[in-house]
Amino acid sequence: MIFTVFLLVQVVLLYFLATHRSRSERDPPLDKGAIPWLGHAIEFGKDAAKFLNRMKQKHGDIFTVRVVGRYVTVLLDPHAYDCVIKDSDSLDFQRYADVLMERIFMLRLPHHQPTHTKALMKRHFLGMNLAALNGTMSRHLEALLKAEMPPNQKYWKQTELFDFSYGVLFKAGYLTLFGGEQNNNSADPASVYDEYRKFDNLLTKVARRSLKPEERRTVQSARHRLWELLAPAGQTEESGSNAWIYAYRRLLQREGADEEMQKRALLLQLWATQGNVGPAAFWLLGFLLTNPEALSAVRSEFKQISQMETTDASLLHSRGNTPVFDSALEETLRLTAAPFITREVVQEKTIQMANGQEYQLRKGDRVCLFPFTSPQMDPEIYTEPQKFQFDRFLNKDGSAKRDFYKGGRRLKYYTMPWGAGTNGCVGKQFAINTIRQFVYLVLDMDLELCDINAHMPEINTSRYGFGMLQPKGDLLVRMKARKTH
Ligand code: HEM
Repeated sequence: MIFTVFLLVQVVLLYFLATHRSRSERDPPLDKGAIPWLGHAIEFGKDAAKFLNRMKQKHGDIFTVRVVGRYVTVLLDPHAYDCVIKDSDSLDFQRYADVLMERIFMLRLPHHQPTHTKALMKRHFLGMNLAALNGTMSRHLEALLKAEMPPNQKYWKQTELFDFSYGVLFKAGYLTLFGGEQNNNSADPASVYDEYRKFDNLLTKVARRSLKPEERRTVQSARHRLWELLAPAGQTEESGSNAWIYAYRRLLQREGADEEMQKRALLLQLWATQGNVGPAAFWLLGFLLTNPEALSAVRSEFKQISQMETTDASLLHSRGNTPVFDSALEETLRLTAAPFITREVVQEKTIQMANGQEYQLRKGDRVCLFPFTSPQMDPEIYTEPQKFQFDRFLNKDGSAKRDFYKGGRRLKYYTMPWGAGTNGCVGKQFAINTIRQFVYLVLDMDLELCDINAHMPEINTSRYGFGMLQPKGDLLVRMKARKTH
């Protein structure tokens, strides 16, 4: 009995020593939360934007919170973001990404060289290859939309805008990158989409380890099914898949990944390449439909393009030809792109804030930027930040506006939907071209809200931190293809 009590005291003491932390002068304000070990995990997971705003009010632009036994320093001063984004010696993106890869995708790649994957991605998603990708994507989009809305159909089709946008863009993106032109061997895109949505709906709970038993079963079954469906992609050069997926497979093989790990890595890529475009297009179409002035401005810009003599596609894929659309998309992403940019602190590091004050980051902690709170929703930078203003990123002369200020100084990062620095999104240009093409094709149909007084659905607050936000509910629209142009 005495021995048991002794052991218990030892355990409690060890726990206290391991988790006790006090604030030194150079540390950011420390807020451990009331619950031992868990700290602020519950509030953070429920609505990270609300929680971080509350912490910002209490502590300012930098603070350290305890979340599930880890200490996370949150930095919300965009003038200081370069300290984190540009430093890959003391702040490691990959170590943090590996944790998520293992938890969500059950993926372990011990000999993985992130720089090689990155170089491969750049080769395939930028430059000359981008033009080919745009062309393939356009053809798949047109075919899928034609199948959904046959030309000369007399009746309106009623549909939920989120599901419609996500579905069409996911299937077109899957065919472009995983199925390819011929779509030989590849799985039916509708089945891949259905399984993916089951997985995606529970993704945030997987990351937070908060699945209920029946949800765990759903995730496991969707994940297995997706691994099977993706198994043929990129197996041989003739499989009809895009050259990128073939080259990616070869890279994984050279790094020693077996068949099983290759399938899992393909699911990770499916998520990275398809998870954000559909939701982004939904928010944009939704904002346009609920803001008639914006809708008519974008429609008339597209009309001018379709009246020009060159093909619509080449004009749509060149930068600078659609400033109104580009501004409306930038504004949409400002309001609905909410990734965390997280790094693991591998060496102690000093951060300097805009006001000159310095703080130290401790080795072993994590540092997290949340650009959604600042700069994107910062009232000092954007007046009425909650409001959609399609021309917010346009100058009076119609050119793109890039001058935004905080504390009297021009901001380098005034909105960050694509992340930034070496780990920024490689698919940015492809994604923008895809969304532009999709919105162009959809607005070329008759499209209206079922209820003209409908509002945008609320945000699913559990998705803050995971890239593009998703709605709680949907927006009912009706559409039909136009008879004549
Ligand atoms: C609206 C659409 C998209 C948004 C908002 C978006 C946003 C992002 C963000 C925020 C990151 C992480 C940056 C960081 O942690 O610092 C990222 C990474 C990435 N994105 Fe995108 N993305 C989109 C579409 C795409 C598409 C279409 C592709 C490819 C076809 C793509 C490929 C990637 C890849 C490969 C990475 C990982 C980069 C790395 O590991 O360093 N993304 N994206």
